[in-house]
Amino acid sequence: MKFKNSVITGGAGFVGSNLVDRLVSIGHKVIVLDNFVSGKKSNLSHHSEKNVKIIKIDISDKNLDKYFKKADYIFHLAALAEIIPSFKDPNKYFKNNVIGTLNVLKAAKKVKIKKLIYAASSSCYGAPKKFPTSEKDKIDLKHPYAETKFIGEELVMRYASIFKMPNISFRFFNVYGPRLNVSGQYSAVIGNFLTQTKNRKPLTVVGDGKQTRDFIHVDDLINAFIQVIKSKSVNKIYNLGSGKRTSINTIAKIFGGKKKFIPIRPGEPKNSVANIKKVKKEINWKPKISIEQGIKNLLSS
Ligand SMILES: NC(=O)c1ccc[n+]([C@@H]2O[C@H](COP(=O)([O-])OP(=O)(O)OC[C@H]3O[C@@H](n4cnc5c(N)ncnc54)[C@H](O)[C@@H]3O)[C@@H](O)[C@H]2O)c1
Repeated sequence: MKFKNSVITGGAGFVGSNLVDRLVSIGHKVIVLDNFVSGKKSNLSHHSEKNVKIIKIDISDKNLDKYFKKADYIFHLAALAEIIPSFKDPNKYFKNNVIGTLNVLKAAKKVKIKKLIYAASSSCYGAPKKFPTSEKDKIDLKHPYAETKFIGEELVMRYASIFKMPNISFRFFNVYGPRLNVSGQYSAVIGNFLTQTKNRKPLTVVGDGKQTRDFIHVDDLINAFIQVIKSKSVNKIYNLGSGKRTSINTIAKIFGGKKKFIPIRPGEPKNSVANIKKVKKEINWKPKISIEQGIKNLLSS
């Protein structure tokens, strides 16, 4: 069987490195483009250079043509991915997430790829009014991070229609799993709870903890990537979540231990849950890992 070539921007990050593992396991040769602003070399250190070529590069200020020449698939995951710092430095987020995406598209347009997949964000729904929220519901951009990720998606979809590119945008909900960022000041709730549990500290619950989120395990998310590259689907936007809402108090209960309540943060919705009918039907995918199982696996790893 002839192997496939994949390029992953942001391949040293949490989601990206899990995707590298899966693609290598199904016989892809992978090029990772990453500037290591949040990604780590150690996330990829178990791979040989024969299968995974790592290029240290900032995708927002370099010509990417030469890396895309042999690509069958391009997975564009590189982004500044934290919300709170985006209020302070919107220009940096714009350059990184919007210009970076434009650079990827300009280079990808010149080659005959089978598919380009963009990591968009459910933050485009802001504080949704309809639950579960579908791809057709209102866009409500509450912070520079959401804005830059959404403009990136607009570019991806415009390029798909103008230049007939085989592009897909996945709007991720709250992704968790191995290699989740556990140390940053702004890391996501499950990452924080993991660190706090390991350090025998109380779990810091934002607000009253009754707010809900849609948590999707990274293995389920990556199953969707694999299904979409096998499918005929192009020029489409899909929500990628579990379709289930879980409160932060429920997450704290699964972890066990004491809770400490801390003030709410700007730009965060009260509730968030994905309507996943479209993705389930069109690419024949469904999430399999329950939140209880996913957290238990993380705690025992
Ligand atoms: N994790 C989630 O819950 C979630 C939710 C919605 C959307 N997303 C999106 O998914 C993607 C991956 O997120 P993640 O959680 O793995 O974050 P991450 O921070 O672990 O990964 C991002 C990667 O991109 C790299 N990067 C950033 N800017 C770059 C640049 N200019 N040039 C080259 N590399 C660059 C970083 O070094 C890092 O390796 C991001 O685009 C993020 O916006 C993630």
